[in-house]
Amino acid sequence: MIRPILIHPDPRLKKVCDPVAEITPEIRQLAADMLETMYDAPGIGLAAPQVGVTKRVIVMDCIKEGDPEPMALVNPEILWSSEDVSTYEEGCLSIPEQYAEVKRPAEVQVRWLDLEGQVQERQFAGLWATCVQHEIDHLDGKLFIDYLGPLKRQMITRKMEKLKRERARA
Ligand code: NI
Repeated sequence: MIRPILIHPDPRLKKVCDPVAEITPEIRQLAADMLETMYDAPGIGLAAPQVGVTKRVIVMDCIKEGDPEPMALVNPEILWSSEDVSTYEEGCLSIPEQYAEVKRPAEVQVRWLDLEGQVQERQFAGLWATCVQHEIDHLDGKLFIDYLGPLKRQMITRKMEKLKRERARA
């Protein structure tokens, strides 16, 4: 089921999300819905708070061509970040059509629970590394625009407020 995506500014996007205590059918359904919502948008990553669920669950698939690689990460944790940084033009499904360059560690080691409740660990690089950091930020109430200067951030926030007013009227 495709779930509605919250648009910034929204208090639910600013919350620190709760860890998932146990992989239940509800969590599996949440992850499946989030993947469906992400592919439909379309996007390469989505975090649970973006669909109004303040739990530590993210989904992503950074494969642009070829077979999809859907990933669902529960309680993801960054264990290590490289000193090397890389810059990507980031966007966010909660901040539609706004993009800005963000500098982040180029590689990260991440540990998470999969939907079978197994602990997984992987080193991400390239776009995957940026994406997983962007999504984990969401779980701590942080958006990519928080890395920008205050003027740029304010400008984007105003645009989003206007977009939300227009959508509410439609
Ligand atoms: Ni985002």
